[in-house]
Amino acid sequence: MDVLKQILDPAARADPYRFFGALRESPVVLRDDGTYLVTTYREIVALLHDPRISSDRRNLRSATAHDPDLHPSFIGLDPPEHDRLRALTMRHFGPPHAPETVERLRPKMLDLTTALIDALAGKSRADLVDEVAYPLPVSVICALLGVPEEDEPRFHALADEVVETLGPGEEDREERERARQAAGLELSRYLAGLAEARGREPRGDMLSGLMTHRGPEGGMTQDEVVSTAVLLLIAGHETTINLIANGMLTFLRRPDLLRRLRDDPALIIPAVEELLRYEPPVQFVSSRVALDDITIAGTTIPAGAPVVLAMAAGSRDPGHVPHPDDFDLDRPRNEHLGFGGGVHYCFGAPLARLEAQIVLNELIRRLDNPRLVADPPPYRPSAVLRGPRHLVVDYDGVV
Ligand code: HEM
Repeated sequence: MDVLKQILDPAARADPYRFFGALRESPVVLRDDGTYLVTTYREIVALLHDPRISSDRRNLRSATAHDPDLHPSFIGLDPPEHDRLRALTMRHFGPPHAPETVERLRPKMLDLTTALIDALAGKSRADLVDEVAYPLPVSVICALLGVPEEDEPRFHALADEVVETLGPGEEDREERERARQAAGLELSRYLAGLAEARGREPRGDMLSGLMTHRGPEGGMTQDEVVSTAVLLLIAGHETTINLIANGMLTFLRRPDLLRRLRDDPALIIPAVEELLRYEPPVQFVSSRVALDDITIAGTTIPAGAPVVLAMAAGSRDPGHVPHPDDFDLDRPRNEHLGFGGGVHYCFGAPLARLEAQIVLNELIRRLDNPRLVADPPPYRPSAVLRGPRHLVVDYDGVV
């Protein structure tokens, strides 16, 4: 059986890492379905920065039917369109690379976290996914975008559907693609209604800003606003949750680590960085297409071929990272692929880092004697956006 198949098998979800050594034996592998899988750090980084690699699925040789009703968001576009839309979005997120922009959200994040953890008092068992790791990022992204949180049950299921059907799957490819498009379309309709309302009566939120901004470089069309909002809403729902849950799981398995982090809260900064390397929420990036023949590590990827980047395998590549399978808080340099690289480097990275740092530190500080109830915990189905579905812990109290 090919190694990727073993990794995609739900039985491997709790520990896909044991297969990564075999996966990296060939840096570039041609799979039966014509996909090229890239598994080593250096090769992945080279391709992330190669303009001959496209993120636009419409360039696929065997283009699976593209739904004309869905305008691609900038994660699925190449420069210059990508850059124009990313820059217009960044305007409302704050200046590029300005940590003060997300820093201003710190008090709100801390308030939300405090309320979620206060709610655990008076009990002795909690599911840290449903009760903390999920609600926090959702509240933050809803507040930023200006999406009413009361509508959350409506789009939660749709966001899940879009990501669970994504990635280098095996069976029912067409059916999954149809399900993904249907969920994406419904989410778009919901956000189109909101965008129109914000265009008519702007508020101080990002959706209003995206609808009304007209600068020298122009603005976004409503379709562009909607696809951007879908992207941000999904990214805000499906990734940080896994970083927080993977983090608590890692710490609860290592009492020495938990103790160190409790004694020195500043260590949460390298800890979150190491989590992004060691237990990355995004394990594969599967949306790339070669625009030209590209020869890498002795293999030629032909123009039009789909390319999958095994980010999680790259971040544990012993050719790049010493003792990669150890969680090590004291790495002098931590270069990982947790947020991708090149022009599509994660837009939400500063936000996700800050959310994870705050909530993990508060959980570590406030939960008295937390213990895992099940190890491994049950996992969400996706091998691409990977994380526990539940993380049930017992504890002696909340301080
Ligand atoms: C892109 C990871 C949180 C918004 C990416 C990519 C990765 C990633 C690996 C690159 C995808 C590619 O190259 O095709 C993560 C992780 C997160 C996280 C691990 C949490 C721990 C967020 C949040 C937001 C966000 C909270 C929203 C505010 C985006 C956007 C892109 C992106 C808009 C596309 C950027 C572009 O195409 O230029 N993310 N992300 N992400 N992420 Fe995140």
